[in-house]
Amino acid sequence: MSLPLSVRILREEHASLTAVLHSLRTLMEEGPDHAGAAFFDAMRAMLFYIDEFPERQHHPRETQFLFEPLAQRAPEVAATLERLEAEHRHGEQQVRALQQQLLAWELLGESRRPAFAQGLQRYVGHYLDHMRREETELLPAALAHLTPEDWAAADAAFAAHVHPLSGHPGRDPAYDRLFTRIVLRAPGPFGLRDAAGQASRTQAALRPQAQAAAFKAG
Ligand SMILES: [Fe+2]
Ligand SMILES: [Fe+2]
Repeated sequence: MSLPLSVRILREEHASLTAVLHSLRTLMEEGPDHAGAAFFDAMRAMLFYIDEFPERQHHPRETQFLFEPLAQRAPEVAATLERLEAEHRHGEQQVRALQQQLLAWELLGESRRPAFAQGLQRYVGHYLDHMRREETELLPAALAHLTPEDWAAADAAFAAHVHPLSGHPGRDPAYDRLFTRIVLRAPGPFGLRDAAGQASRTQAALRPQAQAAAFKAG
């Protein structure tokens, strides 16, 4: 039996988000160059993306179309669902706090760098762990217990919002500039920028959708 569409989309969204989280971590390890503007711009764009898509669209769909029906049909996973849901409730606030800490570092200087660096490290670790638990604990339980009607509702909800950084033809054009900005300025695995600060043509060749977006913008 093939996996429900909503599960496939959810996994694709997790893969994109994982790539962005690893790029955030790599960018932080590299740190700002002499001028710093490109670093802060890429960091800001990626944090904005997390605030804009996973926090406002991915999480609410998981909560409404997977967590809520599963809580009714499999009370034994209540503790897992409660923890994941609590993380959803706090996620938006946490990414906003990070955006504020980044701004403080950019505008007030190096004394604010450690707070952002520690906050980012913690945030990335928690987020990767959250997705791992969804994939290893939530999805198997959902596949075992949700009804065909539950899946029909989940599939329709997940298919209604194309992931803005996916490169799929149906994505919202309003996100194209954000996509291009991140791809050109962030390091891998999500971005194409190499250590010299240039968009890598080798990597671009492996990522046709990113290349197309980059050239369209350039
Ligand atoms: Fe989630
Ligand atoms: Fe998720």
